[in-house]
Amino acid sequence: MLKFEQNIRGNVALGINPLGCKQEVLNQIDYVKNKGTYQGPKKVLIIGASSSYGLATRINLAFGAGADTIGVSFEKGPKNERNLGTAGWYNNIAFREAAEKDGLIAKNFVQDAFSHESKQEVIDYIKSEFGGKVDLVVYSLASGRRTDPDTGETYSSSIKAIGEPVVGPNINMQKQEFYTETLDPATDQEIHDTVKVMGGEDWQLWMEALKEADVLADEVLTTNYSYLGTELNHDYYGGGTLGRAKADCDEKADNINELLTDINGKALIVVATAVTTKASSVIPFFPVYCIGLYKVMAEKGTHETTIMHQDRIYREMIYGDKPEYDEVGRLRPDSWELDSDTQAKTKELILKLNEENFNSELTAYDIFYKEFSNLSGFMVDNYVDQEVTLEELKALKY
Ligand code: NAI
Repeated sequence: MLKFEQNIRGNVALGINPLGCKQEVLNQIDYVKNKGTYQGPKKVLIIGASSSYGLATRINLAFGAGADTIGVSFEKGPKNERNLGTAGWYNNIAFREAAEKDGLIAKNFVQDAFSHESKQEVIDYIKSEFGGKVDLVVYSLASGRRTDPDTGETYSSSIKAIGEPVVGPNINMQKQEFYTETLDPATDQEIHDTVKVMGGEDWQLWMEALKEADVLADEVLTTNYSYLGTELNHDYYGGGTLGRAKADCDEKADNINELLTDINGKALIVVATAVTTKASSVIPFFPVYCIGLYKVMAEKGTHETTIMHQDRIYREMIYGDKPEYDEVGRLRPDSWELDSDTQAKTKELILKLNEENFNSELTAYDIFYKEFSNLSGFMVDNYVDQEVTLEELKALKY
């Protein structure tokens, strides 16, 4: 029988519990089902569908709006007892099983979304088995590397400041340490490469390919998740390399809007709230911001997990009657995070933190750590220990 151990290096989870991942997906499905159904899109393509924001979006649209979904992700299956694959692999399977049980199409493509071949395969599938058109395309990809499909050159993203180094507190979850970190400024090359990986180029390439193939429905919507943050994380996020990549997505949204004019389509940047994900846990200093922010928001009753946030975005904002747009037309569900009292209290709290108190009742370290653990199937609500063999895991098909 397999033993599942939570193994963390720095703020990166190495161990996974595949059965815990499944339970976490079921918990999110329950969250959405308990809120009831709503009128939304019926044929959806989600790029980056296997974890956090993309997965929560998919769960929400399938079980809230009754959508058939195609999910593209880059995940790995089990190899041996020490390498059980990635959490997203099992999330994809758990999602497909549950969706199919409810009579929904849930097609998983596990491959490099950046390549032309991936786009073509998805297009072929939409034409042959998915009814020919999609009415929503969600772009929720986060990656450290991207190979340009035209030149074959591979770029790596860097999470760095721009101009001046940034010095501040960070947390190491493996060692349960609070320490001071220095983030160097990026070179011009690093800025360029981060925009290549995390900017909007691939989003635009997807939309061009889908349009060209005539698989976008009239009035198609495409969403892309951004983060703008606040004064408290500006130096290392908004003002850093990731901020540049997000600004590039804004520009590409304009291009896509132009591209979609004749079919009355729309590209929408959704500025989402800070949540605990595989990608956000490794942003320097960000965990400290989160443990302060979550504490304040939990006390105010505004703290949201990925599924809560995505449910609100689609059910209440995009397909509901409570959208909030900013002056350049971006959707702003992050307004709860940006609330001035929330930010003032978060700042006050973060300034008090040190090695002794960072994981005490003063902060939401407990919430952050649980949410982080949930991503790999640990500390999952309603989880009951079960026995499973490697062969059984290998037999699961995505
Ligand atoms: P994540 O790391 O949990 O998920 C990334 C997804 O992309 C996974 O499904 C993964 O399999 C897929 N992926 C990565 N490389 C791929 C490739 N080459 N081909 C196909 N699929 C690939 O990321 P997270 O945190 O959910 O981020 C999604 C988006 O949301 C990002 O644009 C991020 O900047 C944005 N966002 C995140 C916030 C946060 O606090 N985590 C806040 C606001 C926006």
